[in-house]
Amino acid sequence: TTENVTLDQGFANTASCKSEITFIDGDAGILRYRGYPIEQLAEKSTFLETAYLVLYGELPTATQLSEWEERIRRSTLIDERMRDFFRTFPRGSHPMPVLAAGIMSLSTFSSKATGLDEAAQEKATEQLIAKVPTLAAYGYKNSMGQPTLYPDNSLSYVENFLRMSFGFPTEDYEFDESITRALDVLLILHADHEQNCSTSTVRLVGSSGANMFASVSAGVNALSGPKHGGANQAVLEMLAFIRDHKMDVSEFVKKVKNKEDGVKLMGFGHRVYKNYDPRAAIIKKHADEILSKHIRGSHEDLLQIAQELEQAALSDDYFQERKLYPNVDFYTGLIYEAMGFPVDMFTVLFAIGRLPGWIAQWREAASDPHTKIGRPRQIYIGEPARDYVGMANR
Ligand code: SDX
Repeated sequence: TTENVTLDQGFANTASCKSEITFIDGDAGILRYRGYPIEQLAEKSTFLETAYLVLYGELPTATQLSEWEERIRRSTLIDERMRDFFRTFPRGSHPMPVLAAGIMSLSTFSSKATGLDEAAQEKATEQLIAKVPTLAAYGYKNSMGQPTLYPDNSLSYVENFLRMSFGFPTEDYEFDESITRALDVLLILHADHEQNCSTSTVRLVGSSGANMFASVSAGVNALSGPKHGGANQAVLEMLAFIRDHKMDVSEFVKKVKNKEDGVKLMGFGHRVYKNYDPRAAIIKKHADEILSKHIRGSHEDLLQIAQELEQAALSDDYFQERKLYPNVDFYTGLIYEAMGFPVDMFTVLFAIGRLPGWIAQWREAASDPHTKIGRPRQIYIGEPARDYVGMANR
């Protein structure tokens, strides 16, 4: 049902579509993909298996899963000419615009995947799920002037991405099982989230008949904002700000409550969850395991500041009255940093996780004959009709 739309919220609160993919109960803190609770998927599934579920609606049989994994594994390479594409960006370019541009350029190499028919949609799904981690790793390596590595089809999806991101052609890459598993779980937890800003963007762009690559590229750009997927980077920057200014947590909380310079408690609050984000609870569990093993040096302070901030906010009426709880972004950045990723790669990791959801939602809209081109209306509050004024009378 459509919640009452109050004018100051514009159309942000109306029910924009019907979907069979993800169910959220914001007050109870429930999140399910195709009916399966994320707590069970995080514990028992893998990201590629969950991607299959989100995309095709059912958990795969053993045969379906191995065929799916083989299809993806065989499609991880990008066209050789794209390797030069990355070299055109200045060193230190933020990897999100590079990823959005890379996804758009994928479509120029995959003419069979840019149609709207079922076969093209299937081809585009495979290309995006398989190649986006390669694009992400290549963007990261190029930003540091390091050589890129071809994908290795003997590895799992997450192992392949970690090796392309952190490996070197001059030596074997040593995997750490706890990091591989934690990243798999984090990707599962990001796989879909109903009509969030970036997913609604993917649906809106797709509603014009634009192809899947163009729609997903738009979703990457929507995700990059600090109010959305960019929050995981903003949380680390907030924690570092508190540490580097030797600020007491209570002093920072006061700044937030006084709304000084519009400062917000990044990683807190949510448009839908007015309770603890169920993903944050699972991530926090993994954070303890990964951070105790991998967090280094000055980052230990950041973890401590994060824990103190969480405690201070959860026990403060200001946040309780506004139903502000930790969301998916509050602890993820600390884990990504402990894995070795720089802060500007955090939102790229969010995008890799959200990819199955963007694609599934795009395909659900594309397959619905009732889908019309997105065209929200407005309430006009500008000038009444008036006549042209000659220059001499202005
Ligand atoms: C994601 O939609 C999704 O599903 C997104 C996501 C997904 O998986 O796709 O879950 C991922 O984007 C999570 C959110 C990540 N963003 C952040 O952590 C940025 C910090 N959070 C805020 O920007 C904010 O909480 C939002 C944007 C997330 C939600 O804002 P709301 O629900 O629209 O809240 P609001 O702006 O109407 O604020 C209500 C009150 C205001 O105070 P008052 O005017 O009533 O005094 O709460 C305050 C706000 O100032 N408030 C905050 C706050 N968030 C809201 N105050 C301090 N810190 C915050 N984080």
